[in-house]
Amino acid sequence: MRRRLRGALPPASPPQPSSRPSASELVAAARAARDRAYAPYSGFRVGAALLTEQGDVVTAGNVENASYGLAICAERSAVVAAVAAGSRSFTAVAVAGNGPDPVTPCGACRQVLREFPRGADLEVLCAGESGDQLLTTTLGALLPESFGPDDLK
Ligand code: THU
Repeated sequence: MRRRLRGALPPASPPQPSSRPSASELVAAARAARDRAYAPYSGFRVGAALLTEQGDVVTAGNVENASYGLAICAERSAVVAAVAAGSRSFTAVAVAGNGPDPVTPCGACRQVLREFPRGADLEVLCAGESGDQLLTTTLGALLPESFGPDDLK
């Protein structure tokens, strides 16, 4: 057991909560995750970064398979990682592909992202390989009149 010595001072400052990442930091996190994607079949690497309500960032890349249809998109990989880590509420997601144009989430990923409390209000930042082209939208714009948990009540 560790004991503080008599008269020793407590640590100078308690840990500070980290500040929320900016949009460009979230896109940078998605791009870093893209570099770890496993996409040997399509060669289309995608990274996603989810910003949780608590201000944490959870990232993942797409994961492909020799049985092509089993590929898992970056966005859904990130959702699974976040839920596994204990987060279920997200304020924004950034998606970055390795093509010239911003990547928007596929239909299946839109529906999976719709599940969580922000629903249609989730902010979606879509980016490409590099550069400034950034498409900023919401899940509601990408998936209008959507079906969600409330529809089952
Ligand atoms: N992909 C994603 O990871 N996210 C998207 O939103 C679009 C598509 C992946 C799936 C597959 O591994 C590759 O991109 C080509 O479709």
